[in-house]
Amino acid sequence: MTCRICTAPVGEVLDLGESPPANALKRSPSDPEDSYPLVLEWCESCGNLQLRDTLSPELLYPGYRYVTPDSPLLGAHYTELLSYLETGGYVGRDSFVVEAGSNAGQFLAHIRPSVGGVLGVDPAEEISAMANEAGIPTICAFFDAEVAGEIAGTRGKANLVVARHCLAHNPSPHPMLAAATTLLTDTGYIVIENAYAIDTIANAEFDQIYHEHMFYFSITSMRALLAQHALRLVDVMLAPVHGGSIVFVAARAGRGPETAAVGELESAEADVLNGAAMARFARQASETRATLRDFLAELRDRGKSVYSYGATAKGTTLLNYVGVTSADIPYCVDSTRLKQGLFLPKSNIEVISEERGIAERPDYYLLTAWNYAEEITSKVRSAGNLTSRFIVPIPSVRVA
Ligand code: TYD
Repeated sequence: MTCRICTAPVGEVLDLGESPPANALKRSPSDPEDSYPLVLEWCESCGNLQLRDTLSPELLYPGYRYVTPDSPLLGAHYTELLSYLETGGYVGRDSFVVEAGSNAGQFLAHIRPSVGGVLGVDPAEEISAMANEAGIPTICAFFDAEVAGEIAGTRGKANLVVARHCLAHNPSPHPMLAAATTLLTDTGYIVIENAYAIDTIANAEFDQIYHEHMFYFSITSMRALLAQHALRLVDVMLAPVHGGSIVFVAARAGRGPETAAVGELESAEADVLNGAAMARFARQASETRATLRDFLAELRDRGKSVYSYGATAKGTTLLNYVGVTSADIPYCVDSTRLKQGLFLPKSNIEVISEERGIAERPDYYLLTAWNYAEEITSKVRSAGNLTSRFIVPIPSVRVA
């Protein structure tokens, strides 16, 4: 296999077996479903981490139900991100901001009072309709060169193109970057936010690996990618969302300068982007699987009830890699209305509301949304459930 950023040969890091598309929740446990290999590869040449097998958007997105949760953690992140972009001079009161993969428009709604204009582009019909209903103008489409050209022609070029947690969702990152470049003014900026590969590997977050995540970006690999589009990295910011994320700010090549943060963080990446760290990551994944399997079996023998908390994409990877089914965990608690009443792929666990899941007080919750651990535990406790305990699976299994 070859690197889909730089075309050099790649090596295998971790094989998680066959998994269904992570967000393909089902109406009934008997609905047909397909599983596909989930194999992580690493390019020693440009530092890129990628999925070996990529699924087409038609397979991945037909029943897409990921609605960005209304979370104080995310709200705080939007505030911090906006202030970082303002302070760096990357966005201002006159900026026209276009966001690719804008979901229900939460980020654009947050920044709209501070900029000149906003426009979202998102391929999920139901979710882009929600954005439009909420007053955030949103085009229902994949962000490609055609849409970018249409926007540039009708609305003008964008001062800021934002791609949060979506650039890695394509078999190749090149078309989306080319589209962003088409739409960008000469002095504009592109903001790309993604889970940070360094956190994924260093914190043993193997559950971040699922079919939607076809790339795991680092500064090292992003530099290689941007250079192919006559773009350059000018700044980076780390953020605590999604288990550790990175915000890349890019501009057209020749613009700059590059802030000190870029080099400082990049020099630390070599400690993680190497063969020994990749082998450790694979070992940790298999240890977590063994520990969790044994622990769930022990709880079942002791007659303890376990629900999962968070109908997350990463939960699909975790549950299927570990081999959990609805016999071990009958219910998954989740606040997303669109997910409730549906069944998690392959494990066939039924999704129920938080009100019900909290009130039923299982002995344990397996925290498949461990990235919101603090928020969820305090929500459960303040709702009066003082007894259920939490199994936190990442970076290694612990009970809280
Ligand atoms: P997220 O971590 O974004 O998942 P992924 O990217 O792996 O799909 O999703 C978090 C999920 O957890 C989402 O479905 C909503 C749910 N959730 C709750 O049920 N309660 C909460 O308090 C929070 C913050 C999230």
